[in-house]
Amino acid sequence: MSITDLVNGKTKVFGIIGNPIEHSFSPILQNTVAKEMGENVAYVPFKAESGEVKTALEGAFRLGICGFNVTVPHKKEVMESLVAIDDLALKIGAVNTLKYTENGYKGYNTDILGLGKCFDIEGISIKGKTVVILGAGGAANSAAILAAEREAGNIVIVNRTKANGQALKEQTARYYNGNIDVISFDEIMNIENPEIVIQTTSVGMGEGVWASPVENTLFFKKVQAVVDIVYTPWQTKFLSDAKERGCVAINGFDMLIYQGLASYEIWHDVKIDDEKSKELRNELADYYTAKR
Ligand code: ATR
Repeated sequence: MSITDLVNGKTKVFGIIGNPIEHSFSPILQNTVAKEMGENVAYVPFKAESGEVKTALEGAFRLGICGFNVTVPHKKEVMESLVAIDDLALKIGAVNTLKYTENGYKGYNTDILGLGKCFDIEGISIKGKTVVILGAGGAANSAAILAAEREAGNIVIVNRTKANGQALKEQTARYYNGNIDVISFDEIMNIENPEIVIQTTSVGMGEGVWASPVENTLFFKKVQAVVDIVYTPWQTKFLSDAKERGCVAINGFDMLIYQGLASYEIWHDVKIDDEKSKELRNELADYYTAKR
């Protein structure tokens, strides 16, 4: 492949803003998708310091950069720099996708779409079910609003720091009429019917780490499906324990892929069909696991 196949005068530039950004998988993901879809795109990482996101985006807009993903720690800070914010992103209180518009960037949240897709692929409905969310950080917000949007029967937030759990409960209750409990990990065995569990803590994350936020694996006996947002290691202890107890166990890599595909669809006004999505997912999963 020659350089003219990669970048030329008509190339549309996209990127991801975060800090740190060196370990992001998004450049590989987005450049692979663009190539497969036949778009002339270059997607690059941009490191921005906290407090400087607004200035960075003003420059980016003037340069005509077509869109961004936004990652840790800027998903909230970026909201003050946008000319419009999609309703779903407003509910979640975080933005991970920016699209160039005439007057400035518009913000979206595709993390929630990626998480929702994980359930859709497995044909798992959330409606009327007890959804247990482990953790109350940024990723838990998307999980809680997904549960609310899909009319979960009730929501249980399990978190180490009760105050953070309470804050997530208050944010979610603005959009959800069902019951929301906030409990500690010690109380997890008391949940009556934990049908769906979404693991959003950083416990178990990291090469060679083998830890789970759920100590007693009998917990999984009544669980139908779990999603772990962690994907390094590929199979976490949490996922492995859940699988052993017969649950559908969904790896966080799928959420990463489907949030990326949803961002791509927003930027290019296209729909990537299920078959193509699966093909891209498998190609990227092969690449990711081969690199480990
Ligand atoms: P993200 O934005 O990726 O969700 P985050 O905002 O830093 O990351 O949130 C990390 C979550 O993991 C938090 O809910 C945190 O619990 P606290 O609210 O008590 O800080 C949770 N977490 C991190 N380490 C943990 C541990 N060792 N045990 C239990 N929960 C942990």
